[in-house]
Amino acid sequence: MERGEAVRTWKARRRTSSGQAADLVRLGPAYAVPLDRPLDAAAVFGRRAPLVLEVGSGTGEATAAMAAADPSRDVLAVEVHTPGVAALLRRVEEEGLRNVRVVEADGLHVLTALLTPGSLDEVRVFFPDPWPKARHAKRRLVTPSFAALVADRLRPGGRLHVATDWASYAEQVLGVVDDSPDLSVASRERGDRPTTRFERRGVAAGREISDVVAVRR
Ligand SMILES: C[S@@+](CC[C@H](N)C(=O)[O-])C[C@H]1O[C@@H](n2cnc3c(N)ncnc32)[C@H](O)[C@@H]1O
Repeated sequence: MERGEAVRTWKARRRTSSGQAADLVRLGPAYAVPLDRPLDAAAVFGRRAPLVLEVGSGTGEATAAMAAADPSRDVLAVEVHTPGVAALLRRVEEEGLRNVRVVEADGLHVLTALLTPGSLDEVRVFFPDPWPKARHAKRRLVTPSFAALVADRLRPGGRLHVATDWASYAEQVLGVVDDSPDLSVASRERGDRPTTRFERRGVAAGREISDVVAVRR
């Protein structure tokens, strides 16, 4: 289940509206994170605090709610989909959140090039693109190589939290964690994770929601 550099884990989605484009121009600079060098979290967030990475934050429903509920930690949200980035920037501004930064990038790049070993307190992946067809399985984000990368970037005791509404993806995540020498399943509870549009859609379609919380040994 290893993947080449060029494999995309996301689907093409709709274009940015003019309002979203304006939000990106207006709000982007204030929440910008340099993508060409390792993250200097103290400079970017203006303080030193435990750091959470969310890969595939979508429109940031969960990101904003969880950041507001836990102001003691900083959240770096990574999303490839430009309208999602704009929507989260708008939420961050409207809710006055000081502990969120938003990166328009591939989460694999951010993990590989921006984050250093042991620098993360938690990694969140909520409702990753499911790629349910067997021929697309290589596009799934959570693979053994992803788990190894995440385990390296987490501090000992740090957590990886994945939620999905696809049973086969949940099995894949459990298998990946089971096979990882550095991770073990700590919980199957959703904790304080709020419900997102993708979760509501999965429930409406009759799919069961699975959470896997793994801890870095
Ligand atoms: C199904 S949506 C779920 C969004 C959000 N987590 C939620 O629950 O509402 C999956 C999101 O992951 C993003 N995504 C997929 N692969 C990604 C990657 N490698 N890096 C960053 N974002 C990614 C997609 O663009 C999409 O917005």
